[in-house]
Amino acid sequence: MPLFGAEMIVAVDFRAIGLVVGAVVFIAFVALFVRNVFTARDELGSEIELAANRAEYLSDEELETTKLDRSLTFALGILTITAVILPFYWLGEPGRQEGAIEVLDETFIRRGTNLYQQGAQCVNCHGGGGVGGVAAYVYQDADGQFLGNASWVAPALNNVLHRYSEEEVTYVLNFGRPGSPMAAWGTPGGGPLTSQQLEYVIDYMGTFQVQSLDPLDIQAAGEDELDFFDEGSIAAQEAANELAADIRGEVQRSLDDGEFATVGEAVFNLGLYSGYQAGSLSCARCHTAGWSLGPDVVPNILEPGVAACGGGDPSGIGFSLCGGVKERFPDDTWKDPRGGWLDSTDPETPGAGVDYVLAMDMTRIPLDDKGVALTDRSDDDGEPIPYTIVEGGDLADCEYYSDLWEPGGIPTDAYPFDPRIDLVVAEEAGEGVTGDFVDPPVLTEADLAGEFDGETLTLADRRLAAGCTVVEMPERTSNAHYDFIVGGADAGVGYGRGGQSGAGMMPGFGKTLPPDLIQAVVDYEREEIEQR
Ligand code: HEC
Ligand code: HEC
Repeated sequence: MPLFGAEMIVAVDFRAIGLVVGAVVFIAFVALFVRNVFTARDELGSEIELAANRAEYLSDEELETTKLDRSLTFALGILTITAVILPFYWLGEPGRQEGAIEVLDETFIRRGTNLYQQGAQCVNCHGGGGVGGVAAYVYQDADGQFLGNASWVAPALNNVLHRYSEEEVTYVLNFGRPGSPMAAWGTPGGGPLTSQQLEYVIDYMGTFQVQSLDPLDIQAAGEDELDFFDEGSIAAQEAANELAADIRGEVQRSLDDGEFATVGEAVFNLGLYSGYQAGSLSCARCHTAGWSLGPDVVPNILEPGVAACGGGDPSGIGFSLCGGVKERFPDDTWKDPRGGWLDSTDPETPGAGVDYVLAMDMTRIPLDDKGVALTDRSDDDGEPIPYTIVEGGDLADCEYYSDLWEPGGIPTDAYPFDPRIDLVVAEEAGEGVTGDFVDPPVLTEADLAGEFDGETLTLADRRLAAGCTVVEMPERTSNAHYDFIVGGADAGVGYGRGGQSGAGMMPGFGKTLPPDLIQAVVDYEREEIEQR
C-alpha cells in the first residue's frame, strides 16, 4: 500500500512536468509562427526577378550546410521530445488507470444505490443502509390454506459480505430463497436484473458493511502487513471490540430478561424477541422451522422438538442439527500438551499456518513460528517475550516473581522476572533469594494451576508471580466444529450431512460473532441439541 502511494506521487509529479513540456512546445510553436509571418519576404515587386509562381530556391552550398544542419537539428528535437514524452506518459499511466477505476467504482456504486433504493426496492424489506427489516408474508398451512398475514424477518445486509463471499451473495440474488419473500432477482432465476446490475447492488452493499471481527481484516486495515500494533489496525481493533461488546451485551440482556436459558441458546436465537440485527446473526432462522415469522406466529420455536430440529424455516434452506453433529465433528480440542495453543508449524494441526490466536476481547496475539504466543514486550536483546500459559489456556504476562509467599502482598524483595524464561525458580526453594538465577525447569500446567487475583498469580506451590496481565482465551472443544461455524460452507461445495451448500447457504460467522460466542453456540449444539 505505501509503495502504491509513492507511485501515485511520482505519477502526479511527472504529469505536471509533462504539462509544462507541452506548454513550452506550444508556446515555441506559436512564437515561431508569428516570427515567420513577420520576417516573410515581401512579395510585392519580386515578380520582376522571378516568375509569379516561382520562389527562388536555396543554392547547393546553402542546402548542404545550413539547410541540412537545420533539418537534422529539427529531427533531433522532435526525437528528443518523443523520447521524453513517452516515458512521462508511461509514468503517468498507473495514476490514470487508478483514476479510471475510481470513476468506474463510483458509477457502479451510484447505479447500485439507485437499484437498492428505487429500481429493485431492496430497501423496503432490508432497510436503509442494510440494517434489516421485515417482509410481508402470507402464512399458509401444509395444504396451502390461508392461515394469516405475518412478517418475515428480512436479515440485516450491512454484514452480509462478512458472512458470505460475493459469489454466494450473487447466488442468493440470482435465485432468491424459494419459499421465502426473498424473490429471485437475477435472470438465471427468472428475475429482472442482469448480472451487471447485481454487481452494482453488491458494490453498493460493500459501502455500508459494518466492522469485520476477522483478525485478518483488522490486520489489513493497518498500513503494514506484519505490524499488529500500527494505528490503522488499532482503530479497527477498537471498532471490533466495540461491536463485539455490543453483541455480548445483547446476549446478556436476553439472558437477564429470561428469554433464553444459556449463552449458547441465546446466540443460536439471537434477536428472536428483540430483532437484534434483524436476526442476521442467528442460526435458528435457518435451522428452526418458522423462526423467521417470530414467536407470536410460531410459538413453539424454542421447544426441543422444534428448535434446531426443524429442517430450516419454511424456505427449507437449513436442516436438522438434532443428532449426528458430534459424529460429524469429533471432540478435538485446541489444547496442545503444553496446555497452550495450536502449533501453527505442524501441518497436521487444524488451522496450521495461522500466525495469531484470538483472545476473548478480539485482540490478536501473535505467534512465533513455533506457535508460541508472544507479548508485545521484548527483552534486552530485542527478542519478543512469550506469554506464560495459565489455567484453561489463558495467557499471562508477568513481570516479577518471588518464591516467597507473603499473605500481605508482593514481597519487597520480589525479583524481576527474567523475560527469557517461562518463570524463574529460585535455587533454594522457600528462601528469599538474593543470588543469581539458575536455569529453571519449565513450568508445567500443574505449577500454574493457581489462582489469579488482580495483578498477582499464585502458583500451585504458593510462589507468587506479580505484575501480571492475563489475557482470557476462549475455550475450545471441537476445532473442526468451531472452524465450520467460522468459515461456513463454500459456494459450490456440498458440505456435511446436508450436502446442500452448493448455494453457500450456510454463512461463515468468523467475521460477525466474537470467538467466545461462537464457542458457546458450538457447545450448545454439541451438548443440548445433540440430545434431541
Ligand atoms: C419483499 C421483501 C424483499 C425484497 C424486496 C428483497 N429482499 Fe432480500 N430477503 C428478504 C427476506 C425475507 C430474506 C430472508 C429469507 C430467508 O429467511 O432465508 C432475504 C434474504 C436476502 C439475502 C440473504 C441474506 C442472508 O443473510 O441470508 C440477501 C443477500 C438479500 N436478501 C439481498 C437483497 C437485495 C440485494 C435485494 C434487492 C435487489 C433484496 N434482497 C430484495 C426479503 C426481501
Ligand atoms: C442462512 C441460513 C443458515 C444460517 C443463518 C445458519 N446455517 Fe447452519 N447450515 C445451513 C445450511 C444450508 C447447512 C447445510 C450445509 C451443507 O450441507 O452443505 C448448514 C449446516 C450447518 C451445520 C452442519 C451440520 C452437519 O452435521 O453437517 C452446522 C453445525 C450448522 N449449520 C450450524 C449453524 C450455526 C451454529 C449457525 C449460527 C451461528 C448456523 N448454522 C447458521 C444454513 C444456515
